[in-house]
Amino acid sequence: MLLPGDGIGPEVVRQARRVLEAVGARHQLDLRFTEGDIGGVAIDRSGEAYPAATRALANEADAILLGAVGGPQWDGLPAQDRPERGLLAIRADLDLFCNLRPALLFPDLIGASSLRAELVSGLDVLIVRELTGGVYFGEPRGVVTRDDGVREGFNTDRYDEVEIRRIGRLAFEAAQKRNGRLCSVDKANVLEVTMLWREVMQELSSEYPDVSLSHMYVDNAAMQLVREPKQFDVLVTGNLFGDILSDIAAMLTGSIGMLPSASLNAQNTGLYEPVHGSAPDIAGLDCANPLATMLSAAMLLRFSLDAPEAANDVERAVAAVLLKGFRTADIAERQSSATVVGTQAMGDAVIAALTD
Ligand code: IPM
Ligand code: MG
Repeated sequence: MLLPGDGIGPEVVRQARRVLEAVGARHQLDLRFTEGDIGGVAIDRSGEAYPAATRALANEADAILLGAVGGPQWDGLPAQDRPERGLLAIRADLDLFCNLRPALLFPDLIGASSLRAELVSGLDVLIVRELTGGVYFGEPRGVVTRDDGVREGFNTDRYDEVEIRRIGRLAFEAAQKRNGRLCSVDKANVLEVTMLWREVMQELSSEYPDVSLSHMYVDNAAMQLVREPKQFDVLVTGNLFGDILSDIAAMLTGSIGMLPSASLNAQNTGLYEPVHGSAPDIAGLDCANPLATMLSAAMLLRFSLDAPEAANDVERAVAAVLLKGFRTADIAERQSSATVVGTQAMGDAVIAALTD
C-alpha cells in the first residue's frame, strides 16, 4: 500500500513505486498497489488524518510505503487534529512497535557528512527505536488551565516491562546478526521509567551471551554520536530519544534525504518511510531526494515481502548512481563534478542502474 502523504511525499513515493515496479518485474514479484490518504491531505479530503478507508486498506496490506506528513497549512490545528496524529495513529493501529533506522554512510557521500571523513568512513549504525509507547502515547496528556488561571501542559512517559522486553529482544537479535554490540540509551539517572528500561535490558542480556550490552545516558549518547559515531553498532532506545538520536545519526551520513526506516509489528507487517519529513519548502519543485524512500522500499522487500535479492538490487542500484556522480541538491557538494539531478531524473537513473 502507498501512502504518499504531504509535501514532497507524493513525488518521492512516485519514484520509489517506479523502482518497485522495475525490480518486481525483474524478480517476478506479484506486486499489487493500493493507495490511501494520510496526514494533511487526508484532513483536507475527509476531515481526519487517518481516515477509516485508509485504515481498512492498511489492515489488509502486506506492507506500506509512506512518504511524509505535515506542513505549515495545518500547523494551526489543535494537537489532536494535526497531520502527525495520522502517523501516530497508524503506528498504534498496526502495533508497529519496532522502528529500525539504519544510518549507513555511502562511501561516495563521505564529503557531504557534517563530520570529518575519518570519523564517519565506514559508518554503519542501526538505531532501534520503540515506536508505540513512551511519552508519545502516555496518558494523561494535555494542556489545561488550572484553577489559578495558569495554563499547564503535561505528558506522561511510561513503559511497562512487556513493552521494553519486546523491543529489547528485537534489538538483541539485530545485534546478533551484526557486530554483537548493543548500547541501550536511557536517562536512568533521572527518570524512573528509564530505570526500569535499563533493568529489563540488563535482565535480557543473560539470554544473549553473544551480545555485549552497554548502557548510556541519552545526553552522552547524543554527544558520542557526533564525537565518535563508529563506536556504535546497534542502539536501542525509547520513542522520544530515538526520534532525536536518529536525526543526529542521519546527518552523519550526509543527508537526512538518504535515510530509510522500517516500522514493524510482531507479524512483520511493516510501514516503511524515509526519516526526512515533508519538506514543504521544496514540495513540487522536483528537487527532493527520493533515495531514502527507495531505500525504504528495499527494506520493505526484505522484511515484509521476503524478497532479499530484490532488496539487494535496489540498494546496489542506489549505490551505483551515487558512484556515477548523480546527486540531488541536498547531497551535492559544492565545487564537485557531480551531476545534480531532480527527483524524477534520479528515479530514471536508479531504474537504469537496476538493469546495468
Ligand atoms: C519521525 C517523525 C515523527 C515522530 C513525527 C512526524 C510525528 O519526526 O518519524 O521521526 O516524531 O515520530
Ligand atoms: Mg523524527
